Amino acid sequence: MTATASPDLSVILGSLSLHNPLLAASGCFGYGTEYDDVADRDNLGGFITKSISLAPWKGNDPPRLTEVSPGLLNSIGLANMGVEKFANEVAPQIVTGKSKAIVSVACKVMEEYEEVVALLEDVEGIAGYELNISCPNVKEGGMAFCLNPNITEELVARVRKRTNRWITTKLTPNMTSVSQGALASEAGGADAVSLINTLVGMAVDWKSRRPKLATITGGYSGPPIKPVALAKVWEVWNAVKIPIIGIGGITNWKDVVEFMIVGASAVQIGTALYADPNLPGQIAADLREYMRNEGVGSLSELTGSLKTDRGAMVGVPA
Ligand SMILES: Cc1cc2nc3c(=O)[nH]c(=O)nc-3n(C[C@H](O)[C@H](O)[C@H](O)COP(=O)(O)O)c2cc1C
Repeated sequence: MTATASPDLSVILGSLSLHNPLLAASGCFGYGTEYDDVADRDNLGGFITKSISLAPWKGNDPPRLTEVSPGLLNSIGLANMGVEKFANEVAPQIVTGKSKAIVSVACKVMEEYEEVVALLEDVEGIAGYELNISCPNVKEGGMAFCLNPNITEELVARVRKRTNRWITTKLTPNMTSVSQGALASEAGGADAVSLINTLVGMAVDWKSRRPKLATITGGYSGPPIKPVALAKVWEVWNAVKIPIIGIGGITNWKDVVEFMIVGASAVQIGTALYADPNLPGQIAADLREYMRNEGVGSLSELTGSLKTDRGAMVGVPA
């Protein structure tokens, strides 16, 4: 890289190339066009749509979003318009520009994932799918799909048969061994894994003694979950060969670099987009500055570059 050249932020995740490693996280960027009046979508390497299911879902009753200090607690319940309306009316609008459109899929039973993906195969320009397997599997009594590695592997393998497009699975941190879910995803044929989804959290009003969410507990996101997410990414980096997309509490370029050092090839930004939808543009500019200052020729050289004398000490108590 010459002193005057603008650093190249591009990254490659198997068959998916991104012009930068910044993706908008599912549920934090609508279906992809909602922010078009206020932010340049092309500042993102890509974006993950709100999770789509086979039939429309109305989600949970309100209140289903509350700010906690710092962070967000949500129980949206994967409210969405369903695949038919999405495929016919929305998807054709989102596959423009250099930011790659990745569709998040969340379903109640395994067969529905296959159906949703099959229905989206005719929509041109979709770069890939993020299978949200952190959500409840109705056939298994509401247990999240990814908590059972056999189910994870079968689900991914079934979807793999329906598409040649790039597939990542979205894993929950609310499990004992996230690497089991990642290994099962890899065995099923996933091209990448995305982690983490929200942590289980709760907020209570001390005066009324009432929970702040109608569902009582919800999904906790934002800066405080970053250390948990870094540990999970590091754990998975030591387990699988497929690329990892790091998610959790990212608000600035240093967070991105930290996620890459522990093993991520790209990252997703969620809660922070609610405060500033233009944040990815700022982070991309800051990453270029960082690469210039530190002499980093390619972001991929950061991935898994953690310096440690102890190797993979996963789960070691303080
Ligand atoms: C309001 C809200 C809605 C979300 N909806 C989804 C969703 O539909 N599908 C999904 O996979 N993740 C969803 N998430 C989780 C995020 O994609 C992300 O994994 C999580 O918020 C952690 O990242 P963050 O700390 O940067 O927000 C949602 C998060 C929030 C805050």
